[in-house]
Amino acid sequence: MHPTDTPAAADYDAVHLAAVGRVDALCDELVHRGAEISGVRQRLVFSRGHRAPAAWAQTSWLDPREIAIESIGDGVRALKSLQRNWALHSTGHHRRARLIADKLPAIRFRPLEFPSAPPDAPLGAWTLIDRNRLIAAPTTSSAFADGEPAFVEDRDNPPNRAYLKAWEALTLARRWPQAGERCLDLGAAPGGWSWVMASLGADVISIDRAPLAPEIAAHPRISHRRGDAFALRVADVGTPDWICSDLIAYPERLLELADYWCSACPRAGVILTVKCQGNVAFETLARFYAIDGARLLHLAYNKHELTFFRLPGGGPAEAAGIGS
Ligand SMILES: C[S@@+](CC[C@H](N)C(=O)[O-])C[C@H]1O[C@@H](n2cnc3c(N)ncnc32)[C@H](O)[C@@H]1O
Repeated sequence: MHPTDTPAAADYDAVHLAAVGRVDALCDELVHRGAEISGVRQRLVFSRGHRAPAAWAQTSWLDPREIAIESIGDGVRALKSLQRNWALHSTGHHRRARLIADKLPAIRFRPLEFPSAPPDAPLGAWTLIDRNRLIAAPTTSSAFADGEPAFVEDRDNPPNRAYLKAWEALTLARRWPQAGERCLDLGAAPGGWSWVMASLGADVISIDRAPLAPEIAAHPRISHRRGDAFALRVADVGTPDWICSDLIAYPERLLELADYWCSACPRAGVILTVKCQGNVAFETLARFYAIDGARLLHLAYNKHELTFFRLPGGGPAEAAGIGS
């Protein structure tokens, strides 16, 4: 059990917004990283001793401070004096918080056209914890309000909504398959991720026990093989430039998979979802971090899973500095 409600300002040096339903996983992770949990207010976890992002956090507020205000105008002035761009995460006194937010400079959170990089303007986050007390952090780990990017969706071509998870992963990676690159998509059916990579002009080998949706199977850049993705080796497919997996399996099996492909293809980009239904021990996640270059992050489009990245350029800045 963790202390609930908002601690005194002296008792925390970071505030993390937990992924939906993952407050406990985030607290567990922070404790393993040497932090003390000083309070929990809804999805906000206040901690001391880990002033860095966390895998189970949707975004982390890295330099939080408490500000006493006497009026709405006071709150607006205080925030504006720190910086321009602010995202409200409302946890109470919603109407008053909204009135403050409405008087701050407007930021247009325009949905992203994929592929494009995340905005690079710094984004602060704040919440009103009392009528006359707000917490503001000018520096957060994500460029998106509450760490949730929105995309201009394609409602016609992909076979399901899983393509949004691939879009988000590649957006945060700030790199994506290029025309002519070779991609391996493990656990590909019905084909959302394969569609993403083929639409970028890459050549995709997709593997699944199940068939792809007919329109995806007919894509000229996608070649589908039915079979066990865990049995696949470099000898079967050559050395791809990208290896992606959205296989449903226990984390231990996915760890073996990540280990194999990361060492068999040291220059490839590897992105895979780590399914974490129920409580996954942090020790298991720590074994993913033991892979050289590993980064793990909960994406807004992830449900009970984290996304593992091992990318030549380092991977998502949002997950930088999070080691085991
Ligand atoms: C979450 S779905 C993948 C969705 C896909 N990424 C998309 O965008 O459409 C997981 C897939 O893993 C496949 N799968 C699970 N175990 C497998 C195995 N051992 N070998 C091949 N495919 C497997 C399932 O058949 C299922 O299609």
